[in-house]
Amino acid sequence: MRPDPRWGNPATRSAAEASTVPPVGAGGEAVVAMEGVGLRYGNGPEILQDVSFTLPGRSFHFLTGPSGAGKSSLLSLMYLARTPSRGRLSMFGRDLALVPRQTYPALRRSIGVVFQDFRLLDHLSALDNVALPLRVAGVGEGEIRRHVPELLAWVGLADHLDARPSVLSGGQKQRVAIARAVINRPQLLLADEPTGNVDDRIAVRLLHLFAELNKLGTTVVIATHNESVVRTFRFPRLHLEQGRLTRLPPLADAGPAGGVPPGGAGPVPQMAPQGGANTSPDTAPRSGANVSPDAAPRSGANASPDAAPRGGANASPDAAPRSGAAWRRALRRDPT
Ligand SMILES: Nc1ncnc2c1ncn2[C@@H]1O[C@H](COP(=O)(O)OP(=O)(O)OP(=O)(O)O)[C@@H](O)[C@H]1O
Ligand SMILES: [Mg+2]
Repeated sequence: MRPDPRWGNPATRSAAEASTVPPVGAGGEAVVAMEGVGLRYGNGPEILQDVSFTLPGRSFHFLTGPSGAGKSSLLSLMYLARTPSRGRLSMFGRDLALVPRQTYPALRRSIGVVFQDFRLLDHLSALDNVALPLRVAGVGEGEIRRHVPELLAWVGLADHLDARPSVLSGGQKQRVAIARAVINRPQLLLADEPTGNVDDRIAVRLLHLFAELNKLGTTVVIATHNESVVRTFRFPRLHLEQGRLTRLPPLADAGPAGGVPPGGAGPVPQMAPQGGANTSPDTAPRSGANVSPDAAPRSGANASPDAAPRGGANASPDAAPRSGAAWRRALRRDPT
């Protein structure tokens, strides 16, 4: 793999990056494709039934539906915490049924996840939680000190860099989790109710962050109940109702098509150039990237031990034709 000059000394980068997946989506190929997918927990009923859709590279979708409809479960399939009970799931152009499980960690490193329950590491500060994917990737401390505080400041946590999760509010924890998921500009960002604990102004600001990430090439799926966000940012919807998925157009009453309304968030911070690693189980110390105190399911509803990316992810330099400078410029546009 060619070293990424944006990250300085390649010697400091971790071997974990050597196995990141090749870029998908620049030409609009499917980043996720499901065909006739069903999911059941144990011997229970199918909570996802005959789900079929594709997510083209660089697309942005909301995932909507009532509580219990299966949104988190669907996301957990996409971050490889669960496997479908039936049907076919392809990620980054690879049919998972044909991919050896040893390959999953590399795939997961290309996926950033914001968990509905945050899954921060309690013994690490906000800054260190967000920095974790970068450290796992072997990114130098200088770069980390440059990028992480800026991103945390942008999400309104400039005064909480050293705070542990236990002293943060729900909304503050949520923003740390978001910063961790986007810091590396993953190829695919899956966010589960990322605005569930913040007020509308911050919600809009966070959506701008996702929209900017998307403009730079990340494929984005946001599960949300927040109708005002869905109305403000006119992205198409994947709608789940009793385990069945339908595609719906953007809600029609506001904002320009494709998302970002006028006004909005703040100067979007400087996220790390793509190429940092991810805190995936195989690369991170268990204490690593993710969150849950029991160190285990760092993924969805209930992940298998080997499952789940926990945060930023990443792509190889080749996967990211966009430059760090472009990201910085994007983040400095402040829509609020
Ligand atoms: N680990 C699990 N074991 C058994 N059933 C589960 C598990 N996780 C979720 N379920 C069931 O699957 C269904 C879908 O749950 P899921 O969490 O995916 O819904 P959701 O749309 O994300 O809901 P919410 O909007 O409340 O977050 C629910 O009936 C739930 O009880
Ligand atoms: Mg959920």
